[in-house]
Amino acid sequence: MAALSSMEKKLAEYKCNTNEVIKLKLVRFPEDIDDDSTTFGPEFSHQLFGDDEVAFGYKGLQILLYYSAGNLSTMFRVHYSSKVDDKFDGVQADDVESKIREIIPPGFCQGTDDFVSLLEKEVNFKPFGPIIHTYTVYNEEAGEEITYQIHKADLTCPGFREYHERLQTFLMWFIETASYIDVDDDRWDFFLVFEKYNKDGTTLFATVGYMTVYNYYVYPDKTRPRVSQMLVLPPFQGEGHGAQLLETVHRYYVSSPNILDVTAEDPSENFVRLRDFVLAKLCQDLPCFSTEKLLEGFSQEMVTEAQQKLKINKQHARRVYEILRLRATDMSDPEKSRAYRLEVKKRLVGPYKKNQREMAKMRQCLKPEELTNQMNQIDLKTQHDQLEESYQELVSEYRRTVERLAQA
Ligand SMILES: CC(C)(COP(=O)(O)OP(=O)(O)OC[C@H]1O[C@@H](n2cnc3c(N)ncnc32)[C@H](O)[C@@H]1OP(=O)(O)O)[C@@H](O)C(=O)NCCC(=O)NCCS
Repeated sequence: MAALSSMEKKLAEYKCNTNEVIKLKLVRFPEDIDDDSTTFGPEFSHQLFGDDEVAFGYKGLQILLYYSAGNLSTMFRVHYSSKVDDKFDGVQADDVESKIREIIPPGFCQGTDDFVSLLEKEVNFKPFGPIIHTYTVYNEEAGEEITYQIHKADLTCPGFREYHERLQTFLMWFIETASYIDVDDDRWDFFLVFEKYNKDGTTLFATVGYMTVYNYYVYPDKTRPRVSQMLVLPPFQGEGHGAQLLETVHRYYVSSPNILDVTAEDPSENFVRLRDFVLAKLCQDLPCFSTEKLLEGFSQEMVTEAQQKLKINKQHARRVYEILRLRATDMSDPEKSRAYRLEVKKRLVGPYKKNQREMAKMRQCLKPEELTNQMNQIDLKTQHDQLEESYQELVSEYRRTVERLAQA
């Protein structure tokens, strides 16, 4: 028994958390290579290393995936101080190198010298496709305004296919259910964000983030673009690039008469929060979202105006209405706050009512002895509590958006 536990202990020494040992880096200057402060790790690695996000068989494991800042030319290396051998009774080390090779395209280098040579070629890297938006952000560290450009790219841009193959490798580490897309389907639109920076007096471009959008066909002659993947690379997150990108994409589609509205595939919480802010910011200037109109209730006029002028989907227009109405409501006034609560709960109650109808149908099929009054009461009480909880959660999400609107 004691021998087994010492073996277990030994095995544990050779296990490591893959989110901690994968080291990602976006490199502009050769000195960044050895600068730990520019390294970042994945948020997820379960798609490659299983739900435990563990690699077995190594001590001191480090998986380096370094990318040049613009073109994303890649250096991939695996380091470790020791690896399990036969004394572990045939328990083999995970083949971490093969796992990574499955998701990164060929053509990467493995040596630092080769990588430094690739960095020198960054001067030739130019963003793909036409610029559709330019903006600046003041950078406190640099003490200056930095310029960013959003481009719309497609597969006809030379080198874009290979660049996209490298770019999408980041999805595995930052989107929980990421998968690669079939770029040969010409219904994909690609939007890319780049930062302009200076190196030895020359302007270079660094990749900041991107979005892929699939143009779904809607009978008989319309299109509904659906945001599929959106990623702002971690060193750039929380600086407003996500908001700039989403707003630019909406504005881009506004001029196309055949576009119905923009939707999203399986949106994450972060994305919904971002979208709430962007759409509320856009709608707050529309006449039918004026304070006066907001207090009169949700209207078809709002749906039509948001869709026609900004390509906003009906359900999203409803959320925007609730956010902007919250902002316009004096919640310290019991009457006004009650009116707001009832208005939101009226919408939230929809699925509960459906649930109740289904329960009623089910009861008709049950024998009287299977039904108890108590059961009915529990159902109603639980549903009431759940409704209140959903309302409170929603209002606190909305308050965050209202706060961000105030700072914008
Ligand atoms: C979700 C995602 C796209 C957002 O991009 P982003 O560039 O970080 O978005 P923004 O900077 O516009 O907003 C993010 C936050 O930064 C804050 N922020 C923006 N500019 C800021 C500034 N100058 N100062 C302080 N905070 C700021 C925003 O208020 C927002 O805060 P919140 O999350 O509390 O609401 C990005 O985080 C990401 O790629 N995540 C991983 C992948 C993912 O989840 N994708 C979405 C689903 S596919």
